[in-house]
Amino acid sequence: MAREKLRVGVLGAGAWAMAAHIPGWQRDPRCEVATVCDVVGDRAKEAAARFDIPEAQRDWEVVVARKDLDVIDVVTPSATHHELAVAALTAGKHVLCEKPVAYDFRDTLAASELARRKGLLTKLGFTFRYTPGVQYAKALIDEGFVGQPFIFNGYEQNSQWLDPKTPLRQVDHTADSSVLQTSSLEGYGAPIIDIGMWWVGAGYASTAGAMRNFIPERMVRATGRMMRMNIDDADIHLVEYANGALGSIQTSFVTIGNYPGVEARIYGSKGAIICRAVEEFGVAETIKSARPDDVEFKPLEIPAKFYPAGGSPRESWRSLFYANLIRDFIDEIVAGAGRNQGNFEDGARVQEVINAVERSYHERRWVDLPLPR
Ligand SMILES: NC(=O)c1ccc[n+]([C@@H]2O[C@H](COP(=O)([O-])OP(=O)(O)OC[C@H]3O[C@@H](n4cnc5c(N)ncnc54)[C@H](O)[C@@H]3O)[C@@H](O)[C@H]2O)c1
Repeated sequence: MAREKLRVGVLGAGAWAMAAHIPGWQRDPRCEVATVCDVVGDRAKEAAARFDIPEAQRDWEVVVARKDLDVIDVVTPSATHHELAVAALTAGKHVLCEKPVAYDFRDTLAASELARRKGLLTKLGFTFRYTPGVQYAKALIDEGFVGQPFIFNGYEQNSQWLDPKTPLRQVDHTADSSVLQTSSLEGYGAPIIDIGMWWVGAGYASTAGAMRNFIPERMVRATGRMMRMNIDDADIHLVEYANGALGSIQTSFVTIGNYPGVEARIYGSKGAIICRAVEEFGVAETIKSARPDDVEFKPLEIPAKFYPAGGSPRESWRSLFYANLIRDFIDEIVAGAGRNQGNFEDGARVQEVINAVERSYHERRWVDLPLPR
């Protein structure tokens, strides 16, 4: 790296940029947030003032074209991710992008190939891959703790939109209301689908899924009124992994429980691990394990090296988990970690699964992967 510190441009100054992304970058002394950009100029100015960022911008194209930035962080609404991420890669920047990069996995694959050709690193906002507990579990799995993986169960569920008056964002309110729109499967499913493949060590061979709309009318932020919104607010799918393991994944934003509501369980020939990233009574996550000769699950203490600087289980999950994600991306860019985990290629694999589950639901059948390219 030519410069002393990585210089980052953040696109989007909404809720998630403020809670997770900007604090994550600012926690690592190896980088600086040089500019923050939002099409609503006052939001960019407010973020710059709050986080002491030297510059606020309204035009993302100006930011992406700048020569003095190394990384572009895309934290804008989902429908804009693909255009912004591809433009940033084309301009030679490493890219952190919120999920999904694109709704069709083939577009995400093309973006991943663009990054590879240009020698750039990418990272998806797979927040829960980076919780200290999920990272620790992966280290245990790699050491052989579970043996041959048999079964993975994954959940991302909470009651964030149980109340129909909570304004919905990220929806196409002009869509045909006779057709169910994918919602929770994409927003909540992506990170837990990713953890399943990562822990089990294999992609999907086949899947069968169901999606459901439980709350028919909702307040929509873009229109400011109650509307019929035929979105999947809950879904379940079964998995046959390519290495023979089985899995089930359940996601929902109308199931009672607290944020973020992620639970991952793996059962193998030698051991089992349950990691629960559900903020309860001030604790961000817990992890337990059991062995064949000691079948009562016991809490594990997560070693300090899995926490970001100053992190503890009592910190808010929003900043704790994202600080680890950003620390990992900086390790990959500046410290030559020799890997690029959770990148656009992993994002494409996850999006392919989402597209396969959608197809399974709409066609009422098991769907084999890989899907036709
Ligand atoms: N990984 C996670 O755990 C997680 C959690 C929450 C949100 N998210 C994702 O983060 C993204 C942002 O979510 P949010 O809740 O902050 O949304 P938000 O609507 O609060 O903020 C998005 C901001 O982007 C701005 N924007 C829109 N187009 C832009 C452009 N072209 N250039 C610059 N700014 C632009 C908007 O004006 C808005 O201020 C979404 O994709 C969401 O799904 C991920």
